[in-house]
Amino acid sequence: MSNLKDKLDLKTPTSNDLYLKSEEVLAQQIVDTVSMPYPVFIQAAKGSKLIDVDGNEYIDLVGGFGPHVLGHAPDVVIDALKEAVDNGVQFGLHNPYQEQFARLLVDAIPCADKVVFCNSGTEASMFAIRAARAFTGRTKIAMFEGGFHGAHDYVLAKVVTSSDVDNPDFYSMGQGIPEATQSNTMMLPYLNDQAFNLIRKHADELALVLIEPVQGSNPRLDVGDFLTELVSVCNEAGVLCLFDEVITGFRLAFGGAQEFFGAKPDMAIYGKAPGGGLPLGVIAGRGDIMEVFTRQFDIYNDDGTIEPSIFTAGTFSGNPMTMTAGTAAVTYMRDNPEIYRNMAENGTRLAEEVNLFCQQEELPAAMSSALSLFYFRIQTGGQIKSVRNIDKTSNKAADDLFCLNLLDRGVIMGPMHIGYISAQHTSQDIDTVIKAIKESLLEVRKAGLI
Ligand SMILES: Cc1ncc(COP(=O)(O)O)c(C=O)c1O
Repeated sequence: MSNLKDKLDLKTPTSNDLYLKSEEVLAQQIVDTVSMPYPVFIQAAKGSKLIDVDGNEYIDLVGGFGPHVLGHAPDVVIDALKEAVDNGVQFGLHNPYQEQFARLLVDAIPCADKVVFCNSGTEASMFAIRAARAFTGRTKIAMFEGGFHGAHDYVLAKVVTSSDVDNPDFYSMGQGIPEATQSNTMMLPYLNDQAFNLIRKHADELALVLIEPVQGSNPRLDVGDFLTELVSVCNEAGVLCLFDEVITGFRLAFGGAQEFFGAKPDMAIYGKAPGGGLPLGVIAGRGDIMEVFTRQFDIYNDDGTIEPSIFTAGTFSGNPMTMTAGTAAVTYMRDNPEIYRNMAENGTRLAEEVNLFCQQEELPAAMSSALSLFYFRIQTGGQIKSVRNIDKTSNKAADDLFCLNLLDRGVIMGPMHIGYISAQHTSQDIDTVIKAIKESLLEVRKAGLI
């Protein structure tokens, strides 16, 4: 490993220097799950490529953690931003940019009668939960093991893998989350019909069930029946169902997972892709539910019923820059449906070829994939059914050497993280990536780490 690291050190002196300098003042640069075994600082990005501060070029599989369905810095978005920026970047007050973008989203999102803008997937998740609680008058929320719904206190929960498979227990991800915050959170078993029984059993106290229609930690396409059943169980039980489409929205298909699987929840949240690369969060949903955002105050009717309102705010919510980038990106996605065919073809071929190679070479590694979204893991047992099946003894040394080898071959992929391909990844890019993955795995085996 040190030979390879020495070689990369020589190629990336400015990155190394920046790494040392930034550690003096930055408590965190990027989260642990995406940190590379070796620091590469990116100066510029275009299409499927990244250029580091020393001028080295890489094929990007990190994809900015998901927003860049159209590749990095797509002309259509950059041109629109250049035109808009001279008019001012933030007003706080009413502006004409929101309506145009909102209309595009309402037309594209099956469950959306109306939308509300905020600044991230985390905010969208937080506000959607508040809305569901206000609308139903109940407080409990349920989420599935392996799911991720942002970095706020209610949902930072991880399954205890030794707990009952039919009734999972969970713990908070990291310190600083008061126990009381999560006392109203419930965890459901993934791809397990017992989840439906738990929803029925707790229907009286449950406001909302959240699900990632395709889990970032476990991308797969054989989940359509489970999603359809979930929506119908929630409907029958009178519990709201929310699809967290922060990853799948405008990526799996133009209409996201709802279009792809033909399932329509009560609410959905978005981030990443429809922002065209700028920070965005969107809450979308049925008109009667979205009314809680519209009202400024609770209305007390003569018959004793209350029409609830909720408070949301965000200095930068609906700002002209994000609205402009989003409008340009989503319009392009709508008008160029072939991008989804290309991404699907490239992503599927990538996973098929890598998995075939792993099987032929009897390598303990597998790529789970859902079209342009994948998760590559070096571990025994191949594909996982749920995060419970992740090998906890996973081999960091093997992951690191694998990633270093990829870097040396001009490919960037975050270890322990989702990989994304974009509409700008060419078939030749995919060939290069497949070759790099195969060679890197063989190097890891040669080093005796797998
Ligand atoms: C499914 C899902 N929901 C919510 C979020 C939070 O979004 P953000 O990082 O924009 O806050 C993420 C982020 O990766 C996500 O993958």
